[in-house]
Amino acid sequence: MAAPKRKRPRKKKPAPKKAPSRAKRPPPPKISVDEALALDRAGRTEEAIAAYRALLRHDPKQLDAAMNLGTALARTGHRQEAERALSRAVALYPEMAELHADAGLAYESLGLYDAAHRAFRQAVERDAEHRVALCGLARLTLHAGDRAGAIGLYRRAIDVDPLSPDTFLGLHEAVYDDGDPEPALEAITHAVTFRPDHLWSRFLMGILLDQCGQASASAQILGRLHPDPEVFRGAVDSWAYVKQARTATTRLFAPVAETLRFAAEAATLDGLVVEFGVRYGVTARVIAEAVAPVRVHGFDSFQGLPEAWHVQPEGIYSTHGQLPDLPDGVELHVGLFDETLAPFAARHDGPIRLANVDCDLYSSTASVFAALGERMVPGTVIVFDEYLVNDRWREDEYKAFQEAVKTHGWTYEYLAFNLHSGQAVVRLT
Ligand SMILES: C[S@@+](CC[C@H](N)C(=O)[O-])C[C@H]1O[C@@H](n2cnc3c(N)ncnc32)[C@H](O)[C@@H]1O
Repeated sequence: MAAPKRKRPRKKKPAPKKAPSRAKRPPPPKISVDEALALDRAGRTEEAIAAYRALLRHDPKQLDAAMNLGTALARTGHRQEAERALSRAVALYPEMAELHADAGLAYESLGLYDAAHRAFRQAVERDAEHRVALCGLARLTLHAGDRAGAIGLYRRAIDVDPLSPDTFLGLHEAVYDDGDPEPALEAITHAVTFRPDHLWSRFLMGILLDQCGQASASAQILGRLHPDPEVFRGAVDSWAYVKQARTATTRLFAPVAETLRFAAEAATLDGLVVEFGVRYGVTARVIAEAVAPVRVHGFDSFQGLPEAWHVQPEGIYSTHGQLPDLPDGVELHVGLFDETLAPFAARHDGPIRLANVDCDLYSSTASVFAALGERMVPGTVIVFDEYLVNDRWREDEYKAFQEAVKTHGWTYEYLAFNLHSGQAVVRLT
């Protein structure tokens, strides 16, 4: 994974209050910040982290080393260490908006949305025209369910920089409405105009053209996303699948949290609410709020994926055993599904009301259905997080579900799809 480029501070740095005595410093490391960053970008992040730490032992006020350390720790899932490093970096120059914005992005990537919100706010308080921080606030506001607030923030970001494709990409998600897709098409068209080679934006424009009744323009853009037809094959194939599988009442969503809230509302059966794949707890928090006071049972090893997933290595998404802070209504069952699900099933009676399957792998999803398939009955609502879009989606959660359908003789309906996230919402009938 490429390391994010840290922008240089835009404002002049104030002089540090008091530099530590040179005599007490360890000798300078043999590596510079730029060389450490190059290691990070080459995927040698653990070595880069060690180098940033050595640089900071020599000079604790090296701003780039401090912030790069925080963002590298965040990217590799070391939440607590990242939090400490980020707050130390920001404390070096607390008046710099850029630092708060960078910290906000790192907190967001760790699922620490309250901390991210505070950091983006701090950035905007110091620089009301900080586009990245305004967009960060917009994303978090949309995640919290306040569409109008998010659109207002994106509009402010557009006033600051009317040519940013990223802002229009974000805005398109905030205005997306399957009953009236024109505003989203308008926003994504701007994103494509300002960055014509961005395949994801072009794909989204293609499916929006289709939703707006412009089938031939859609076919043109989806048919020519890339000279190699294999590139983005999974996304284009997903849209074809959605079009043939959806019914007149199947909804389409863009924000992940909106899909989850919709699914929670559709799940009216009296029964268990479960999530498979908790990691930072982002989705568990949304579900817990939506079904409160019903308890949510979250299952995860917190060691990442137990096997490689296509191009992703084994262990990806690990939190290194660190558990997220979750509301009281969420009970965690820590361990591999094959170890935790059977004892859970033995201790808890009743059907499954709502399941969020966010474990990516075919094998993990198959374990869920093997252990709890008998508890899935007419009325059970299942949300799959990675059902669609990636190039090999038909080999993952989709495949495990289709096999379970055969094994258990289920019939089902698609309540919703989300082509932005890959989610599908299914209700057994
Ligand atoms: C994409 S992450 C989940 C993201 C999470 N829903 C969130 O909101 O942050 C996938 C998670 O599934 C977990 N996982 C996958 N297969 C598993 C298995 N067989 N047993 C236990 N945990 C598993 C991984 O540890 C990882 O935390």
